[in-house]
Amino acid sequence: MKKNILVIPGDGIGPEVTTWGKAALQQIAKDYGHDFSFDEALMGHIAIEQTGNPLPDETLEKGRKSDAILFGAVGHAMYDNDPSLKIRPEQGLLKIRKELGLYANLRPILLFDELLQASSIKPEILRGTDILFFRELTGDVYFGEKQRSDDRNTASDLMIYHRYEVERIAHKAYKAAQQRSKKVCSVDKANVLESSRLWRETIQEIAKQYPDVKTTHMFIDNAAMQLIKDPKQFDVVLTANLFGDILTDEASQIAGSMGMLASASVGDGTGFFEPIHGSAHDIAGKNLANPLASVLSAALMLEISFGLKEEAQTLVKAVDKVLKEGYRTKDIADKQTASDKVLGTREMGDLVLKYLAK
Ligand code: NAD
Ligand code: IPM
Ligand code: MN
Repeated sequence: MKKNILVIPGDGIGPEVTTWGKAALQQIAKDYGHDFSFDEALMGHIAIEQTGNPLPDETLEKGRKSDAILFGAVGHAMYDNDPSLKIRPEQGLLKIRKELGLYANLRPILLFDELLQASSIKPEILRGTDILFFRELTGDVYFGEKQRSDDRNTASDLMIYHRYEVERIAHKAYKAAQQRSKKVCSVDKANVLESSRLWRETIQEIAKQYPDVKTTHMFIDNAAMQLIKDPKQFDVVLTANLFGDILTDEASQIAGSMGMLASASVGDGTGFFEPIHGSAHDIAGKNLANPLASVLSAALMLEISFGLKEEAQTLVKAVDKVLKEGYRTKDIADKQTASDKVLGTREMGDLVLKYLAK
């Protein structure tokens, strides 16, 4: 199979981890006789530095023309510490999501048995958890009108949804649920927000078209609590952009670390694959980042964009083998982990490739 893949490493630990997602794709291509070609493009702080624009036109053009995109992360402490800066790395990510019509962000909570001890939640609560989040990605308060008063003392972000935006992601979530445990839990704040009432009303309508799927509705505050109390109750969780952002960082603790969670953003065209984590300034450049979320994002690309299920499974199994052998990056090491098995980013990436080649 011939495919053109665009790699956008971004900032902070982005380049450190994306190296390994890309290397895993190259190894798979070699082992299975595929012809994957790679191009690279700028986004985020690095793009601002080099072009003045967090999403240069060239990156967007390359993105549109590619068969899939592997992305790292964007962000820099400079902007986090100075809210007054007008041009910001994250604008690049938001714009490419909008421009490529990536309205559905799939975030699977993939739980490796070997990491049950790495989580701060009790193993018996976690074991058997299998959740697939559908986070709406191109609407909500992220994209509503933003305002700041002339005296700078008042600010607002409009939380807005259109019915079609809820419908299209709902169909994707219900179709996925039909292939899984046939449960959709829609999470909103319909007891307070009008946009959530539109959300709930729309889901209630769509649910009628999928009578084989059991639909429940939960308020976001309760969902945040239930996720820790009893994560096994969930199958597909369908939610809005901001709620999904927050809930999935929380859910990363079910899988053991932010460094384990991959995601796929899909919609109208080219698929976009990225870890859910950010540029992690606190560990950037120290060979401490866990590269497995990038490797698992590459697996999602193989499966979702290219339909290469076996190749995707091979990648996931290589990660599983490395973990079974007891190797850990610092973020997923527990007290029992032998110190010689705690690896840096590069060593962990190398080991995945070695296990892949076996
Ligand atoms: P973050 O996800 O970067 O980091 C949160 C915590 O998780 C940190 O302690 C970090 O060290 C740890 N962590 C994250 N990824 C890890 C990995 N692969 N291995 C080991 N540990 C890991 O979130 P933050 O600190 O809130 O944000 C930092 C910057 O990243 C900000 O500028 C933010 O805007 C940006 N950000 C970007 C994205 C993205 O590009 N998709 C996502 C989230 C945050
Ligand atoms: C994510 C990030 C982004 C988001 C930021 C960096 C714009 O947190 O991908 O989860 O909020 O969507
Ligand atoms: Mn996030």
